[in-house]
Amino acid sequence: MSRYAVETAYLLSTAFFILSLHWMSDPKTARRGVFGGVAAMLVAVLATWAKPEVARFWWVAWPILLAIIPGIWLAMVPLTAVPQRTAFSHAFGGLAAGLVGTAKYAYWYAHEPEMLTGFRMLAIVVEIILGYLTFTGSLIAAGKLQEIKWIPQRPWVYHGQKLVNLGALALALILGVVLMMYPASAAAPWLFALVIILSLNFGWMLVMPIGGADMPTVISILNSYAGLSAVAMGFVLDNKLLITAGALDGSSGLILSIIMCKAMNRSFFNVLFGAFGQVQQTAATGEQKMYKPETIEGAAQVLEQANLVVIVPGYGMAVAQAQHKVRELYDQLKKRGISCKFAIHPVAGRMPGHMNVVLAEAEIPYDDLVEMDSINPDMPQADVCLVIGANDVVNPAARHSGSPISGMPIIDADRAKTVFAIKRSKNPGFAGIDNELYFGEHTYMLFGDAKAVVGDLVKQFSGGGLH
Ligand code: TAP
Repeated sequence: MSRYAVETAYLLSTAFFILSLHWMSDPKTARRGVFGGVAAMLVAVLATWAKPEVARFWWVAWPILLAIIPGIWLAMVPLTAVPQRTAFSHAFGGLAAGLVGTAKYAYWYAHEPEMLTGFRMLAIVVEIILGYLTFTGSLIAAGKLQEIKWIPQRPWVYHGQKLVNLGALALALILGVVLMMYPASAAAPWLFALVIILSLNFGWMLVMPIGGADMPTVISILNSYAGLSAVAMGFVLDNKLLITAGALDGSSGLILSIIMCKAMNRSFFNVLFGAFGQVQQTAATGEQKMYKPETIEGAAQVLEQANLVVIVPGYGMAVAQAQHKVRELYDQLKKRGISCKFAIHPVAGRMPGHMNVVLAEAEIPYDDLVEMDSINPDMPQADVCLVIGANDVVNPAARHSGSPISGMPIIDADRAKTVFAIKRSKNPGFAGIDNELYFGEHTYMLFGDAKAVVGDLVKQFSGGGLH
């Protein structure tokens, strides 16, 4: 294939990557977005193989084909395991970038030292630092999310930790600058190895102090590091497609992290260094707060009288896999002419778009999924707000200063006329604090597993005399 044809294929691939991101931003076209991304990658790989200088390494096709097997296996994980699966993929993306940078440096050092210009060395240093730190950082993130026993879920903190971490990074950067100045010196390979060790170390040390539930944000930040590392790799290999695809990856990861941080009212700095998720001390007020439990029959009767029901899904609904039962409940309400909407909080669950994906799996019409900002003005008109396994995202404590979730935008569930909250126990949500909503005057608790409770409500509607 001529160089011209390869460049044209790369351009086509870049266009597909951009369209894929565009399509993925809407649930209606998300599936097309996935196929667009696959097509873009396929064109990129085939065009690269068609280059004459690459084609002679045809035997590399074997490990690539073999890698498809674990790839398919990884794609089969349940939806709740997608965050750790994503972290796992990023880890190897980072490792690949780091190894390419290392191999390229080793080759040029041994055979063409004149190629080690200041700019190329800058690209290589950026590539290996970001690549290797993404590798170990993402592995720890995946382990935390998978709740692997020997990786603590809670933030692992010690005195002077930030200093040690930043010191390790600063040392790697200083050595990187020295490498740029003397890339072909006798000591350079040793310095190079030291930068790799420091970067590998910095990656895991960066993620260990972060609580398990903050991992989706961290993964997204690591994703943008992996993208930037690919950009640097593109400069090292003089490959424009890697530069554009890496830039798209890096910027989308960064934008996603910003959206998540905003939705939690946290800064990057706070996520990376705040050790959020440590056991919170709740102030003992001496006042005994009381929950008001409700029966399935009682809740069903109130629901049946409603004109507007707003369902707030959360992490508990996803882990209970209650979405199909929720769909049945939605159908029952609709059958009775009751308007039913889903209030979607941007960080409900444990990954971006978690609720949209879970509800789409149960084929709940997209038009009834309403974003937090759009549904909040309508909350006072809601006759019933049914909170299913959601906690922090409906906690009115976010409106007061001094609370760990202070300033976090919430769904105004407490402004509905009646609130039913489904959860298994009196345990707090991810932020580790009590939820004022549960003690509200109009709030009634339906204790139990989300799937079982919603299933009982459906039974009550379909067979229990409510027609
Ligand atoms: P959480 O605050 O974690 O609350 C989930 C609730 O579900 C818990 O109160 C739990 O109570 C209940 N639950 C668990 N299993 C259940 C089951 N089988 N049946 C019924 N209930 C069950 O969830 P949320 O309201 O969705 O908020 C998400 C949190 O994650 C936020 O604090 C957010 O900042 C954080 N976070 C999210 C993201 C993204 S991108 N989504 C990223 C980083 C952090 P019981 O144990 O009593 O049942």
